[in-house]
Amino acid sequence: MTDTDLVRRLLSDPRVVKNAREHWPALRNGEVPADWPLHPLVSVQNMFTSDGQDHRRLRRLVTGAFTPRRIEAMRPSIERITADLLDRLAAVPPGRPVDLHAQYAYPLPTQLVCDLFGVPEPMRAEVRRVTDAILTTQVTQEQAAANATDLYAAMHALVAAKRDAPGDDMTSGLIAATDTDSDSRLTEDELVSTLILMIGAGAETTVNLIGNAVVALLTTPGQLDLVRDSRATWDDVVEEALRVLPPVMHLPLRFTTEDVVVDANTVIRAGEPVLIAFGAPGRDPAVHGPTADAFDVTREDKSHLAFGHGAHFCLGAALARLEAGIALPALFDRFPDLALAVPAGELRPQPSFINPGHQAVPAVLRPAAGGAPVAAGAVVGDRNTPG
Ligand code: HEM
Repeated sequence: MTDTDLVRRLLSDPRVVKNAREHWPALRNGEVPADWPLHPLVSVQNMFTSDGQDHRRLRRLVTGAFTPRRIEAMRPSIERITADLLDRLAAVPPGRPVDLHAQYAYPLPTQLVCDLFGVPEPMRAEVRRVTDAILTTQVTQEQAAANATDLYAAMHALVAAKRDAPGDDMTSGLIAATDTDSDSRLTEDELVSTLILMIGAGAETTVNLIGNAVVALLTTPGQLDLVRDSRATWDDVVEEALRVLPPVMHLPLRFTTEDVVVDANTVIRAGEPVLIAFGAPGRDPAVHGPTADAFDVTREDKSHLAFGHGAHFCLGAALARLEAGIALPALFDRFPDLALAVPAGELRPQPSFINPGHQAVPAVLRPAAGGAPVAAGAVVGDRNTPG
C-alpha cells in the first residue's frame, strides 16, 4: 500500500470521522483547553466538522451555489477583479518592487468571497483579519483565545447586518435557511460556523495556490517558456502547483470511532485524533517517481489529493481552479518581464502547518529604464508601506 492509498483509505473509512464534539473523548472530557490555537477548527459546527446525515444537510445548503454553471457565471467577476488589480499594479514605477502576495494573490480570492457572501465594505478588513487568523498555527494561547473571540464577534456582526439588510448573497440565503421552520433548518451556531468555514476556506487557500504558482514559475527555469510556447497549458500550471505545492498541507482533525488497523505495525486506537497530510500524495515517490518533488508542468501524471477525497471533497475546487486559471495568465501576459525581487531562499513561509505559502512575494513587474538598480527600501504593499 502506498502512502497515497493510505490517505485515500482513511478519508473514506466510516470509522474515521470529523465530529470532535461526539467522537474526541479529550474534547468531551474538557482536557482540550479553550485557548488551544486549533480549537476553532474542531469546535465549529458546520459541514467540515460533521458526519453522515448532518454533514449532508449542512453541505446541501450551499452546494447549489457551487454547481459548474454557477461557478462559470463567476468568471466575469473574477476577470473584473483581476483587471482592476493589474491596473493598480501597472501604476507602480518600473524597477520598484511590489509584494505580489499582498497586492495580487491575496485580494482576488478574498474580494470574491466577500462579494459572494455580501460582506459590507466597512466590515471586510475585520472579516479578513479574523478568518486569516484561524489558519495561523504559531500563536500564543492568549492570541488564539483573542482571535477566536474576534472571529465569532465578526461573524455575529455580519449576520446582524444581513438580517437588517438582506441582499442577493449567500449570507442572506443561509439566514433564510436559519429563520425557517423546515426540517433542514440551520441552527444559529451552524449558521455562524458555516460562514466561518466558507469565508475562511474560500480565501487563504486560493491565495496560496496563486502565490505558490507564481513563485514556482519565476524560480523553476524553463517552465514559463513551456507555457508561452504552448507546450503546456495554464491548466497544467494550476494542476502541477496543486500537486507539488499544495495550498492546504494538513487540515485538523479526524477521529477514530474504533481501533483502526493501518498495517501489521500500526493501529490507531479508538478516540485518537488523526491529522491527514492532504499535500503528501502529490509528492509520493511511489506514484510520481524519483522526480516527485520537481515542478514540471509537462509531467503526464499530476494526480494529487490537494482538494481531499470522499464525502468532504472540497466544495470550492472548481472555483479555486477557475480563479487561478484566470489570475496566472493575466499576470504574466500583462508583465512579461516579471521577476522576483529577492532570491527565492529569502521568501519567508507563512507561520502555519496548515497552509504553506509565502508571507510576501516581492517582485519587479518591469525592469527600471536603462536597467537601473532597484531602489533599496520600500516594497509596495509590504507590511511597512501602504499599498
Ligand atoms: C486551492 C484552493 C483550495 C484548496 C487546496 C482546498 C482544500 C480543501 C480540502 C483538502 C478539503 C477537505 C477537508 C477534509 O476532508 O477534511 C476542503 C474542503 C472544503 N473546501 Fe476547500 N480548498 C480550496 C478552495 C476552496 C474554496 C475556494 C472554497 C469555497 C469558496 C472551499 C470550500 C470548502 C468547503 C466548504 C469544504 C468542506 C467540505 C465538506 O466538509 O464537505 N475551498 N478544501
